[in-house]
Amino acid sequence: MRLKTVLNDFHSTLDEYYGKDEVNSFFDLLMEHYLKIKRIDLALNPKYEIDTEEHELFFKALQELKLYKPIQYIIGETEFYGLPFKVNEHTLIPRPETEELVDWIIKCHTERSDESPRILDIGTGTGCIPITLAEHMANAQVFSIDVSEEALQIAKQNAMLNDVDVKFIHDDILSPHHTELSEAYNYDVIVSNPPYVRDLEKAEIKSNVLDYEPHLALFVDNENPLQFYKAICEFAQKYLNEGGALYFEINEYLGQEMIQLLNDFGFNKIELKQDLFEKNRMIRGFK
Ligand SMILES: C[S@@+](CC[C@H](N)C(=O)[O-])C[C@H]1O[C@@H](n2cnc3c(N)ncnc32)[C@H](O)[C@@H]1O
Repeated sequence: MRLKTVLNDFHSTLDEYYGKDEVNSFFDLLMEHYLKIKRIDLALNPKYEIDTEEHELFFKALQELKLYKPIQYIIGETEFYGLPFKVNEHTLIPRPETEELVDWIIKCHTERSDESPRILDIGTGTGCIPITLAEHMANAQVFSIDVSEEALQIAKQNAMLNDVDVKFIHDDILSPHHTELSEAYNYDVIVSNPPYVRDLEKAEIKSNVLDYEPHLALFVDNENPLQFYKAICEFAQKYLNEGGALYFEINEYLGQEMIQLLNDFGFNKIELKQDLFEKNRMIRGFK
């Protein structure tokens, strides 16, 4: 079958769901993933043929896209800060705003290249934060914890894929044990993008997120939306070195509450930062 015919099928079925441009970009990703070819190759060879097996892959992807399954889960991979990452149903798909958080840390801490900071990331997911920091901060010792064994499995594969050294730890930041995490370790930087979407915000969430991304990674109780931030601040009070930095990605609606929280825990030089869309999205404080 001609690949061009499959592209036409994609448009006739999916344009009403996503619009023409987005369907084109899905198709580009699928061509690269399944056939290792780019759009230009199809343009130069409009009679490009695919076999039955390849057609089945495209057909399955089309059915899944119709059900709003994210393209990253369909192909099982994505890109974060220019690096490749495997994703599956146990890991959040890394977001551009998290790239901004990582960029903030890299810019602020690589200037001091003589240092070898100890960095702890809380809530690993794909490992996008610790792996990218390890890649860009050559001297750093990087640790990361997640309560999800399945997420840690993917993160370990991603560390190998990117050829970096990160120590992954299975732990629950809300429980008081932290034996592996706490005893020997003091950190210069603690960073977290914890679950922060309140149940009441579910109505704003699109079905591609709500139906496919792990709720463990996303949602918190309406009554205690800062639960993770409080636990991490308490942890940081004990295990962040004097002068060390605490970085968070935050719920855009809770910027003032987060400033108050960091103040209450005695952090100083608190800075709230907006993302590209001018939403309060990141905060940091120093011990
Ligand atoms: C918002 S996701 C962030 C994932 C990744 N850091 C990123 O930015 O894409 C939050 C992560 O926290 C993890 N998590 C949830 N509850 C946790 C807990 N009690 N202790 C440790 N990690 C937890 C989830 O499994 C999920 O991977």
